[in-house]
Amino acid sequence: MAVDIQSPWRIGDVEIPTRVVLAPMAGVSVQAFRRQGRRFGAGLVCSEMVSCAGLHHGNERTLGYLRLSREERPLAVQIFGSDPSLMAEAARMVEDAGADIVDVNFGCPVRKVTKTGAGATLLEDPDRACRIVGAVAEAVDVPVTVKMRRGLENGSRAALAIGPRLVAAGAASLTLHPRSAKQMYTGTADHSLTAELVELVDVPVVASGDVVSRERAQRLLDGTGCAAVMVGRAAQGNPWAVGEIAGAREGEPSREEVVAELVLFMRATAEELGPERATGFLKKFYGWYLGRGRFPKPFKQELVQLETLREVEERLIAAAPGAAAVLARLEGELPAEDDVLLDLPISIYGGG
Ligand SMILES: Cc1cc2nc3c(=O)[nH]c(=O)nc-3n(C[C@H](O)[C@H](O)[C@H](O)COP(=O)(O)O)c2cc1C
Repeated sequence: MAVDIQSPWRIGDVEIPTRVVLAPMAGVSVQAFRRQGRRFGAGLVCSEMVSCAGLHHGNERTLGYLRLSREERPLAVQIFGSDPSLMAEAARMVEDAGADIVDVNFGCPVRKVTKTGAGATLLEDPDRACRIVGAVAEAVDVPVTVKMRRGLENGSRAALAIGPRLVAAGAASLTLHPRSAKQMYTGTADHSLTAELVELVDVPVVASGDVVSRERAQRLLDGTGCAAVMVGRAAQGNPWAVGEIAGAREGEPSREEVVAELVLFMRATAEELGPERATGFLKKFYGWYLGRGRFPKPFKQELVQLETLREVEERLIAAAPGAAAVLARLEGELPAEDDVLLDLPISIYGGG
């Protein structure tokens, strides 16, 4: 029977309103991105991976990842590391910050992470991986989930061997991105492994990799038995794809909508990261939003050369004047900022 993409499901006792999950993406999944994803129909959003060592040392930028808002819930915060007790400590901080789910990263293929014994390397060190999940699950009351690749080498089936053990250790859901770490983002995700994993475990499995359309999402839901699909790169600068996949909207956005969403995103990001950091951070988003044939290429080049976000905003609105009214409407629909931030037991910004 076809799974209704708009039907709710659960991870532990967390109810998730739709079958679409917004992927954790380092350098992308800021709070503004997650809130936007929820607004467009993602049932669950996830932070980018957060270093447990960074949390342990009280690194200010790392602690900034725990600045969560009401509007994005339900949300997962993802942690990475290789030491079970540090991971447990990090999980407690994540829970205290208000996350509904703690997600553990066993998928990162980047050498900086794998050489420390974290990320995808743990797929080849199942005893340690299980100790980490056990320690984290023991440390918090919220559900603990794991996101993993298929294994390190091409053709690896490590995820299938380790999946049931992770569940036995306490994982309440598994997300599989069935590429090897070696593949990085090349080739295609082999979701026949997702279907095999579904057969092996009695917790919800989330399918990640190459979910780019409603049709692809539905095929995965129906063909693999996964509980939900995860959308990553297709959502970059493209919340409308999330909306389309979630069955909440159809068709390409107008230029006015594109500019209004981008400006809204810029303002929220500037508030979150501070204008200076946001200026550099946002540059990659200009191409993502304005590409896909929406605006001529030189326009993006022009924007990245501008020095301030205000100048970028002005140039954007000048290119699609009707966007100002769309933006005003969108801003009117958002809750007041005071209602947004969770009361953090961890004082990160000293109230600022
Ligand atoms: C820029 C970028 C950053 C990513 N960062 C993370 C991360 O922090 N944690 C994680 O588990 N996966 C991360 N991923 C992997 C994605 O969550 C997802 O599994 C992968 O991109 C496949 O899905 P897609 O084809 O929909 O993009 C990242 C992917 C990209 C493109």
